Amino acid sequence: MDDIISCIDIGTTKVCAIVAKLDENGNVEILGRATEPCSGVKKGVIVDIDSVSNALKSCAQKIRALLNIDIENVYVNVMGSHVDVFFNKAAVDILRPDRQITSEDVERTLKKVEDVKLPDNVQIIDVIPRQYIVDGCDEIVDPVGMAGVKLELEADVVVGKITTFNNIIKSLDNANIKVNGFIAEALAVGDLVLSPEEKDIGAILIDVGGGVTNISVFKNKCLALYDSIPVGGDHITNDISIGLKVSLNDAEKLKRDYGLALTSLIDNDHDITINEFSENTKRTIKVSEVVEIIEARVQEIFSLCKERLEQEGILNGFNGGIVLAGGGISYIDGSVQSAKEIFGLPVRIVSYKALEIKNAEHVTAMATVKYVANRIKSEAKGGGTKNNKPGKQKQKKEYGFLKKIASFFHGLF
Ligand SMILES: Nc1ncnc2c1ncn2[C@@H]1O[C@H](COP(=O)(O)OP(=O)(O)OP(=O)(O)O)[C@@H](O)[C@H]1O
Ligand SMILES: [Mg+2]
Repeated sequence: MDDIISCIDIGTTKVCAIVAKLDENGNVEILGRATEPCSGVKKGVIVDIDSVSNALKSCAQKIRALLNIDIENVYVNVMGSHVDVFFNKAAVDILRPDRQITSEDVERTLKKVEDVKLPDNVQIIDVIPRQYIVDGCDEIVDPVGMAGVKLELEADVVVGKITTFNNIIKSLDNANIKVNGFIAEALAVGDLVLSPEEKDIGAILIDVGGGVTNISVFKNKCLALYDSIPVGGDHITNDISIGLKVSLNDAEKLKRDYGLALTSLIDNDHDITINEFSENTKRTIKVSEVVEIIEARVQEIFSLCKERLEQEGILNGFNGGIVLAGGGISYIDGSVQSAKEIFGLPVRIVSYKALEIKNAEHVTAMATVKYVANRIKSEAKGGGTKNNKPGKQKQKKEYGFLKKIASFFHGLF
């Protein structure tokens, strides 16, 4: 039977829903997508539940009109400042005489790895196995059926504040949508846009959205840092609006029409006419006056990211590169050059065309779909299960993160 995967990205500027089908062979087919502008989120935090719920309802209606499908259960991404990812390990002894590792043993290791002391308002939202180790033999993906006396698990544990998730759950609940699970955005986007080599050598993913810039650092195939800073593409628009005394709509249009990150890249500094908002008069300015404002804010965003990375000592001896993503930076020509100048590292920008993603604003929802599909696939394959016969699917998923996380959050409401 095909699985339907629905994912929602509640961003600062828009809500984006993507519905996909995972077929028996593990192929993901995107069935449809819907986007709705939303002003209920500020700097990545829901500040107006009704506004978010209305945008979600509208997305659900668009999907229904498109596919005749009701979005009922969704996976939602959560960004860096809302979650923490830390490494943990656990071990269990295999005491049965045949020493054969079963799915119950795997479940015991998962339970043990989750057994960490957390503050009252913090909840585990995901456990991602890095590897199983059987009697010292490492890099095992599925230990079930193997023989051994000691089973170890090394995993990334993703935690977040319950209060943060409550507003997301409430907004979705008002739109008659239930949460199946929360996905750390960096893990999903990192999987989609970074190559395994980049994740191994070292990659700093800078995802500039509308109100937030997510910084995630991958090294030795693992997430080494995941944080957000509260600035994004909308701050560029605000700066243009204040600096040139134009409305926010006009400022957004100027940004889109003359989106350059460096004044040195202007090849024709021609005149443009703008409407001064307060005076209601027209005025002539040069293209360079717009670009100077964009340049300053783009440099500030990168400098803040650099400061954050320096605080964590990430840039000491770092020999990887920077990857830029997100609607806030992807359309600004010259952003790669600007980032190169600030970081002194190789920089590339995500190619949405190569990833078959319509535009930069869809990348998070698309990444979440692909990430969930991969997790379903790997859990169905084993990840510690007895076998992967289709008939055993239900049993296999029992200790999977998908089911566990869903039951926890369904229990909250
Ligand atoms: N053609 C364009 N030129 C310049 N900027 C653009 C263009 N199209 C979109 N943007 C900018 O992209 C930003 C929105 O990007 P994105 O959809 O990635 O953010 P978000 O997910 O809504 O917000 P966040 O991730 O911060 O919560 C806005 O600031 C918008 O002005
Ligand atoms: Mg976003």
